[in-house]
This record gives sequence, C-alpha cells and structure tokens, in this order.
Amino acid sequence: MSIVGKTNIHEGLQVYPIKYTWAKELYDQAVSNTWFPHEIQLGEDLADWNRMTDEERHAVTFFMSYFNPAELLVNKCLAFGVYPYINAAEAHLYLAKQMWEEANHSVAFEYVMSTFPINREEAFKAHRATETMRKKEDYNITYLKRMTEVNLDIDTVEGKRDFIRNLVATNVIMEGIWFYSGFMVGLSFRQRGLLRNFGSLIDWVVRDESLHLKFGINLILTVLDEHPEIADEAFTAEIHRMILDAVELEVSYNKELMPRGILGLNADYINQYVKYMADRRLEELGFNPHYNVSNPAKWMATANDVEQLVNFFEATNTAYEVDARAHVVTNTHSTEQKIA
Ligand SMILES: [Fe+2]
Ligand SMILES: [Fe+2]
Repeated sequence: MSIVGKTNIHEGLQVYPIKYTWAKELYDQAVSNTWFPHEIQLGEDLADWNRMTDEERHAVTFFMSYFNPAELLVNKCLAFGVYPYINAAEAHLYLAKQMWEEANHSVAFEYVMSTFPINREEAFKAHRATETMRKKEDYNITYLKRMTEVNLDIDTVEGKRDFIRNLVATNVIMEGIWFYSGFMVGLSFRQRGLLRNFGSLIDWVVRDESLHLKFGINLILTVLDEHPEIADEAFTAEIHRMILDAVELEVSYNKELMPRGILGLNADYINQYVKYMADRRLEELGFNPHYNVSNPAKWMATANDVEQLVNFFEATNTAYEVDARAHVVTNTHSTEQKIA
C-alpha cells in the first residue's frame, strides 16, 4: 500500500509496525516542541507599541491580518486536501499534531491582536479587502477547492497530481516561502530592540513551521517515489511555475506591506529574502535555484536556533522544551527521489 490513495476506514487504526519512520520521528519532535501562547507576557511589547511609528504599526497589523486567517487556512488544506487521502497511521498522528499547532498559532496571533490596540475589525477585514493579501489567499483556495470536488479520484495519476499541487501550494509555498517572509519582518523588530516577546512567540511558531515544511516535503517526495509516473515533463514544469508565480504574489504583497522602509528593511530587502527562500524550496524539490541571490537576512538562519531570550522583567525563557528528548530530524527521506 502506498502513502496516498483511497482510504479504507477499517485500516490505519494501528501505528505499529511503522512504515514511514520519518513521520513518527517528526511527530515525536513536534510533541517535544509543545508550547502555549500565554506563557509569554506582552506587557513590555505594549510599551514598545506606544513608541513605534505609524508605519511600524502598519507592518505589524498587516502581518496579523494575513497570518490570522492563514493559519486556519492551512488546517483546511490539511483537513480536506491531505488527511482524507493518507493511508499511514503515523502520518495521521503527525497531521493531528500539526493541526493543533496551527490552531495554537491562530490563538497566539489572536492573543497579540487583543493585547495591542489594533483596530481588530479592520485587521480582520484586510485579508479580503487588501488585493495583494486576497490574491495569496485565493491562490491556496484554488488548489484546496479542487481537493473537495466529487470527481477527484485519488487513485488516478491526475488525482495524485492534484494532491501534490495542493501540498506544494500549502506546505512549500504558503508555509515554506510566504510565512518565512512574514516571520522575517516580525523578527526584524526584535533585531532593533522592539517587540522582544512577540519575537519569542514567532520563534516558537517558526520552530513548528520548520517541521511542517519537513513533513510536507517528505510527503511529496514519498508520493513521487511510490508513483514516479506522476512527474512527467509537463507536471514538473507546472510545479516549477507555481513556485515562481508564488514569488511574484509575495513581491506585490511586500510592496503593499512596506511602501517605505522601516527598521532598516524595505520591500526590496524582504523580496530578496523571499527569492532566497524560494531557491531553497526549489532545491529541496530537486530543481536548480532560479534566483541565485544571497540571503540578505543572515541573522534569520540562526535566530530560531541560538536565540534563547530570557525576558528578565517577566522571566519567561523561550528556549524551554517540554521534553528533553529533542530528536533532530534531518534528511528524513531515505531515497534520492526528487520532483525534477
Ligand atoms: Fe502555523
Ligand atoms: Fe504550519
């Protein structure tokens, strides 16, 4: 049996023996990473908010407007587009934990929005009212919608291509490129000594997202490994095009996010980071890099690993882990299969 196909509800009710060990390892790591938003106090950040410029506040509000619905959209993509077509209990374990994490991220951003004096009604409306934000959301919804159509037959090559398209749009593009662009903007406040506790929340979200991305890439590569007929020349070119189109959507979005520079950032700087991240995602799928730009935000590479911020006023160490087993999961896919 392969990892994706029509599910038999009488099967997949026992985890052992485990076929896809990478899925169980990612689950164990995800459980070790469990955190709760209210472990972080935002009082200091609220004081920062009051001395920030209007443009800096606009950037944080824009971030919230995009991320709050996007976290829940990831869950819809998993619930309707991934989970129902998976045949491995160990992958279901991981997806269940990921879905809780996305709910937790949404609650975390809601907590920030209700702490800062953000006009919540406007912030909530913005994901549809702001054209560049709406286009990103609609991009994901197009692929998700296909997964819910009754004529989708997952046991056909075309059905599996739809499955891969939705995974690329959700895991690789939304979580693996667009979210990282947002995280970089969010964490740049801390780089300038502002919103340090908000930065700690983002650290925890990034730690979760890095596992979501590993799971998504492993799942894509496993499906391609088990069904090599999926990746013909036209499909391979289509996936490549999807990623380049997604970069264009993000470039327009960032121009609206940051019409002028703040905090040493501007839209060009952020978009160079977007292109750098897109190249990494292309490589993970087996393509050559397309943009060949350097990482303008090298501090991002280490921010999540080495930043062990202790807020001395409110004494919350963000580096804690609920379980010290801390499995490190790298290169979990055992074959050389790539999309290109
Ligand atoms: Fe998330
Ligand atoms: Fe995620």
